[in-house]
Amino acid sequence: MNNKTWSGRFDEPVSELVKQYTASIPFDHRLARHDIQGSLAHAQMLCKAGVLSESDLADIRRGMAEILEEIDAGSLKWSLDLEDVHMNIERRLTEKIGDAGKRLHTGRSRNDQVATDIRLWLRDESDHISGLLADLQHALLDVAAEHSETVMPGFTHLQVAQPVSFGHHLLAYVEMFGRDRERLADCRKRLNRLPLGAAALAGTTYPVSRETTARLLGFDEVCQNSLDAVSDRDFAIEFTAAAALLMTHLSRLSEELIVWMSPRFAFIDLADRFCTGSSIMPQKKNPDVPELVRGKSARITGHLMALLTLMKSQPLAYNKDNQEDKEPLFDTVDTLVQTLKIYAEMVRGIRVKPENMRAAVMQGFATATDLADYLVKKGLPFRDSHEAVARAVRLAESKGVDLADLSLAELQNFSDLIADDVYRVLTPEGSLKARNHTGGTAPEQVRRQIERWRKLLA
Ligand code: ARG
Repeated sequence: MNNKTWSGRFDEPVSELVKQYTASIPFDHRLARHDIQGSLAHAQMLCKAGVLSESDLADIRRGMAEILEEIDAGSLKWSLDLEDVHMNIERRLTEKIGDAGKRLHTGRSRNDQVATDIRLWLRDESDHISGLLADLQHALLDVAAEHSETVMPGFTHLQVAQPVSFGHHLLAYVEMFGRDRERLADCRKRLNRLPLGAAALAGTTYPVSRETTARLLGFDEVCQNSLDAVSDRDFAIEFTAAAALLMTHLSRLSEELIVWMSPRFAFIDLADRFCTGSSIMPQKKNPDVPELVRGKSARITGHLMALLTLMKSQPLAYNKDNQEDKEPLFDTVDTLVQTLKIYAEMVRGIRVKPENMRAAVMQGFATATDLADYLVKKGLPFRDSHEAVARAVRLAESKGVDLADLSLAELQNFSDLIADDVYRVLTPEGSLKARNHTGGTAPEQVRRQIERWRKLLA
């Protein structure tokens, strides 16, 4: 099983340690299906160009079909001696069909081959991830739809700021995930270009039609410079950057779920199947899943740094360094897929505790801005009204009550513009309803946004 692809040049076999160090088959075998997809298109193009005979093409198709069956059955043995997935498959093909298998590599190199394989693979994964993200958006919309009127404190500096609805809060994440999907779609444009035909680095002397291969593989266009084609990994960096930002969004939502589930907040509960207990403290129910999502966001950011660092000093064109692109990329995709699958289900299992959310609003003078706006509408300059309300808050705080619990006479001490219509603006429900414009927290607006997103996602 010695690797004879280039060994004619050497006096002695490669050292065992070096073989293990340089082989990528332990991880790149997962590109096998896309490697075969690329090879079949390449062979078809070569046949059309008169470089391969019809009978060679038929043999290659038959052999590859058998290899695919072996991969599905798990019976194909990957050999370390054959270094990587490309040479493993080529060798197996040659075992099956003889010389036609050896002719497949005409007019290409592993350099353009591997760049093509990763693009084909990542294109599928990226589409899968975009679908999973849409499902998470649907899950958030379902919960938001039930809570367009559920008041909770909106925070700034993690201090109670103004009332918002729980639905409105969740819609903020629907927006973030919408931008994440836009980024994936944008990255896909540059991902969906064909490197094949660049061969090792300079192009090939055969009469290839790269456009034909591109069309067969569903690529939008071909990479326009052969040196760039084999050495470009921008698409991997862009994808991982989009993934890191997506994981950052998930990490932020996770942090909120964790805080909300703490008994100090008690805004929500997560379904038991997403939590774990403690081996020593019988009372514990821990939000392990969101904690782990928050933790795993770190490794994706790490993969992004790894890929940027991998590329930063590479001269043109292909260098073996590029083999190091795969593990960070694979782990990024695996982490994202697992995280998104679990997350949509977890969101659907959120149990909301509206009474606790409302109680927290009432403890934080969340309608102070509404009182200030009320005075402004009656003619007081905003700075004076801000001052008047601040003093009213101090009185309420010293009495241990909410602004709405102060009597009209007490409130009028701070401004004689206050009349008994003031109590309408001091309720959290009134506060929500008053913010009735695009992007505001009024229940009517939240319902509009939910409709808008459902149409966008349909
Ligand atoms: N396994 C290699 C990789 O993943 C394939 C390309 C090898 N090319 C070469 N010239 N050694 O990058």
